[in-house]
Amino acid sequence: MSNDDEGVINNPSANEAFDEVQTARLSRRAVLGGGLAVGAAAVAAGTLGGGVGQVLAARPAEATWYPNPRGGPLLGFEGIPTSTADTVVVPPGYSWDVLIAWGDPVSNGPGFAPDASNSAADQERQWGMHNDGIVFFPFGFLGNWRGLIVQNCEYTDDGLLFTDGVANWNAEKTRKSQAAHGVAIIEVVKTWSGWKVRRPSPYARRITAYTPMGISGPAAGHPLLKTSADPTGKRVLGTLNNCAMGYTPWGTYLACEENFNGYFKKTVNGPLEARYGIDSSPDYLWHTTDTRFDLDVEPNEANRFGWVAEIDPFKPKSTPVKRTALGRLKHEGAWVEEADDGRVVVYMGDDQVFEYIYRYVSNDPWKTAFRKGRHPLDDGILYVAKFNADGTGDWLPLTKDNPALAGFATQADILINTRAAADAVGATKMDRPEWIDVLDSKKEVYVTLTNNSGRGTGTNPGVDGPNPRVNNRYGQIVRWDYANDFTDPVFYWEIFALAGDPAVATTGSTIVGDKYGSPDGIYVAPSGRIWIQTDVSSSTIDTGFYAGFGNNQMLCADPVTKETRRFLVGPNRCEITGCFASPDERALFVGIQHPGERPDNLPGDPADPDAFSSWPGGPGTRPRSSLIVITKDGGGKIGS
Ligand code: FEO
Ligand code: CA
Ligand code: CA
Repeated sequence: MSNDDEGVINNPSANEAFDEVQTARLSRRAVLGGGLAVGAAAVAAGTLGGGVGQVLAARPAEATWYPNPRGGPLLGFEGIPTSTADTVVVPPGYSWDVLIAWGDPVSNGPGFAPDASNSAADQERQWGMHNDGIVFFPFGFLGNWRGLIVQNCEYTDDGLLFTDGVANWNAEKTRKSQAAHGVAIIEVVKTWSGWKVRRPSPYARRITAYTPMGISGPAAGHPLLKTSADPTGKRVLGTLNNCAMGYTPWGTYLACEENFNGYFKKTVNGPLEARYGIDSSPDYLWHTTDTRFDLDVEPNEANRFGWVAEIDPFKPKSTPVKRTALGRLKHEGAWVEEADDGRVVVYMGDDQVFEYIYRYVSNDPWKTAFRKGRHPLDDGILYVAKFNADGTGDWLPLTKDNPALAGFATQADILINTRAAADAVGATKMDRPEWIDVLDSKKEVYVTLTNNSGRGTGTNPGVDGPNPRVNNRYGQIVRWDYANDFTDPVFYWEIFALAGDPAVATTGSTIVGDKYGSPDGIYVAPSGRIWIQTDVSSSTIDTGFYAGFGNNQMLCADPVTKETRRFLVGPNRCEITGCFASPDERALFVGIQHPGERPDNLPGDPADPDAFSSWPGGPGTRPRSSLIVITKDGGGKIGS
């Protein structure tokens, strides 16, 4: 979603997690390359109880690795210039098609009404309004030709969702807005004329802001999760503001609840609501007709949001489950890796200025957990990241046996107020952690930090190693790896790129290649190509600090050379978000979100819906968020 909201600071905690002194930090490679390695790791191990010495020895030599072992450059395409055209632009030799757009039926349901007159009942069978995180689930050995696509429908612009916008708000409008949120599942097939949505499909499904779900893990059933409609604290209706995502080795999808605060009204908020930004003026009008979203009436309902919801796309009748062990935050995504010993590790960003990066590690290997009758995402330890000035970092456990968390009564209390627990242990306040993905061949984790214009201004926290710029307009990409495995207590970080314009020294950019700012989506393809998507706010696109940057874009980077080349530019006032390849990488599915968003962030004007974009339908039509598919003419991996 457009990134102005997350510029509000909800973290007043005094933890200054990082050495203020900008010492010349050792680069990760220097730390790992020589005799310093044991020293740095041993210092960190001392605070966390050992185990590091033995894992260091097992670390593979870095120089033996190259992302494209069969040779040839990773970036084989011709980079494109910036663009302010109201269309999608890709390099010569590539093509794009709209696969599905807001309001299109996910199966054989009702079609899109161009005047936005579809009912709530229609919308509940149609693609949601503003698509975001996406996963392509291949159908076994047919996976390069057939699969399920699961995509979040993050939020709505209620000005454009209805023929008359937000005027005359009523219960039906609330219901339609809720139906346009959630998650969409479609079946797609590759045909002689390209990729198509299969209609009807027994797998097609819409999950909305009122779909029944379970709540599991340590916080399930806690008094703070009980409501008048659910005295068990274990059942909830719906998921919302699902931003980025993840998927598991057992074939499920993880939908992450991000800016849930904007849906709830609380006239006088307490510390728990305040820490998550809930107040008396929500972004949506739902609370006016649905008391679930009025915390003055239903005080605990908001505590049932801010979680990660697990969905089984291959079981269309299954009930999604919110997994509370993964913590409660403004979840950007939940990227899952399997450690060598079979435990699952989940990386998660909390997208707001001065918030944190989290890691979850299951207690058992995931197959063992299932054999024991436990869910691997219900039984594990949540950690938060502390970045040290010397290029190391520590994962700090958010558990009852951490002395810093003695003030929390139970593990459930820690999880329900994850942000406060992270404050208490002294985590590092970051410049808005967005997506996280992993270069598997190197066990190297990449996170986008989109921007933070408040960094180092006024009484705000100052600069530090991974957040090194005052008044950070352009954002950065940070990466880290481990001596041995994703489960290590210590990591080694470095900055991959400071965004901006590398040709303009005042932007401070270290990009090797084409300029960009506000990195948000990041996706590492199986070949090692790193796809970077931008979310420059509609209020600043191609103006001010972003003059000459054009519309939001997607670039491809080589993780070794860091060379970065512009591959796609989107239509006007959109953000590019959501990226996933078919297993053979001959199809790249990309989300185009909120074309035509107003630069003042108010709801769109239903009397002039195409004021800022009419993509993809053309002049006179409402702009529509869409999922596009990109192919290389004549075949071949995307980007090759
Ligand atoms: Fe939904 Fe952090 O963007
Ligand atoms: Ca964003
Ligand atoms: Ca995002």
